[in-house]
Amino acid sequence: MWKGNLTCKHSSFIIIFFLILCSANSIVKAFFEEEEEDKVDIKRSDFPDGFLFGAATSSYQIEGAYLEDGKGLSNWDFFCRTKGSIANGDSGDIAEDHYHRYMEDIEILHSLGVNAYRFSISWSRVLPRGKFGGVNQAGILFYNKIIDNLLVRGIEPFVTIHHFDYPQELEDRYGGWLSPRMQEDYVHFAKICFQSYGDRVRYWCSINEPNLFAEFAYERGTHPPSHCSPPFGNCSAGNSDIEPLIVVHNMLLAHAKAVKLYRDRFKSEQSGVVGIVVHSFMYKPLTDDKWDMEAADRALAFNTAWILDPLVFGDYPPEMRRYHGSELPKFASEERMLLRDSIDFIGINHYGTLYAKDCIYSCCICNDSSCNKGSDRAIRGFVYTTAERDGVPIGEPTGLPRFFIVPRGMEEIVEYAKKRYLNKPIFVTENGYSSPQNQVDDYHHDVKRIYYLDSYLAFLARAMRNGADVRGYFIWTLMDDFEWTNGYSVRFGIYHVDPHTLNRTPKLSATWFRNFLSNCSINHVESCNAISLMNKDVPRPQSE
Ligand code: NOJ
Repeated sequence: MWKGNLTCKHSSFIIIFFLILCSANSIVKAFFEEEEEDKVDIKRSDFPDGFLFGAATSSYQIEGAYLEDGKGLSNWDFFCRTKGSIANGDSGDIAEDHYHRYMEDIEILHSLGVNAYRFSISWSRVLPRGKFGGVNQAGILFYNKIIDNLLVRGIEPFVTIHHFDYPQELEDRYGGWLSPRMQEDYVHFAKICFQSYGDRVRYWCSINEPNLFAEFAYERGTHPPSHCSPPFGNCSAGNSDIEPLIVVHNMLLAHAKAVKLYRDRFKSEQSGVVGIVVHSFMYKPLTDDKWDMEAADRALAFNTAWILDPLVFGDYPPEMRRYHGSELPKFASEERMLLRDSIDFIGINHYGTLYAKDCIYSCCICNDSSCNKGSDRAIRGFVYTTAERDGVPIGEPTGLPRFFIVPRGMEEIVEYAKKRYLNKPIFVTENGYSSPQNQVDDYHHDVKRIYYLDSYLAFLARAMRNGADVRGYFIWTLMDDFEWTNGYSVRFGIYHVDPHTLNRTPKLSATWFRNFLSNCSINHVESCNAISLMNKDVPRPQSE
């Protein structure tokens, strides 16, 4: 019916949009035909009512305003000032200026039709000096405004308490997460969050990716506070074999203590749930050899189960106990009680799949760009992980060296969590695509991103049809942002942000997501109200 009102400009928009989606569709189909005879026609209605669909961000990566309204310096504010630490000397000082443009960003979320938004709270904005100082009311107010404005638009706030950034003072005073004192500081911060926002926030993620945080900050030394030792890297301080274990130990206990506090003091009134977010690659054996098969299992245990086993069963995975000596810290029996069953849901950040090769019975030499050094050490589970088999990559490359596109990995990692953790509720808290740096199509016509999201969602739906209790899915990320040591050179956003004006422009993937949430599939785009999808000035249909 709307066709009758088309202007020439609109019809050419639609034709271009249609052609682009058709090409995305054929890429998707080609991929799946290679993989299997499965019908790819994923749409919103393939997921249950009440399923959360959203986008995810984190405070340091988008907020900017690094010293405004009483905010203290964070570890990342400090690290970005160290010469050579970040690509192109970038920093999050201004980032996407979300601190000033949050209303525009909330309108963007609303226009997409999401029903949830995952964001994190900047610890140093709320508690500039941790427990050593008071609460910054301007910081509290900022997140109140975000939460209230989301709720007015029917968007559920899905809040991460700690996403990599913390007050630098805690690092300077006692060494941050290397010290057990950080547990109490974290619980204090979590308590302020529950007290201030818990009347409106129903979903809490305690800590984002303790496993990746420990690996980057204390094993490879590429994130602050840059601790590492050879062969992992050359840092001025650190011990890559031991420190990541201590850091995760402190994070797990901090999580469990905060959850106890929530359950004892807040849950009965606030009725929220608390989970943790784990960075979860899928691992496949490099060969059919039984040692490589065991290596793939070990890789999963030393990455994902390292975090989740203690929080479900009360102790580190048996695989880790078997291969680590006394360097793996022990939990006291009351700590095991505290840890056991301390998550209401599992947050999975999933991007890609890698091959795993055994390094116990065979020699491992790191000789391609996707492998990490130190595979023959206990901290890596004596597993060499790589994206290549006989020189052939496991999937298409992306903007990050170890993130390769393997959509089936989504089903496999969810299946792994389902089986190992007795079908605990799962949220896919991050999944997204960054284009290789030499690829120019990212600015608007990010067809590869659509292909990536669509095919990963199709495999997520398959996992759910097989019984996995998945409750939500968040795209990483809403807009191009500060991608840690890569600065602004790696772009995951479904919105482009102009580096000079900071203007936000939807990429084709944003249109695809909006389309998807209105229950259109790539195969049936002709049944969608394409005009309202292409022209942001035309209001969206009021169907949600
Ligand atoms: C994981 C992290 O949570 C997020 O901060 C990061 O930007 C993305 N993955 C992409 O690397």
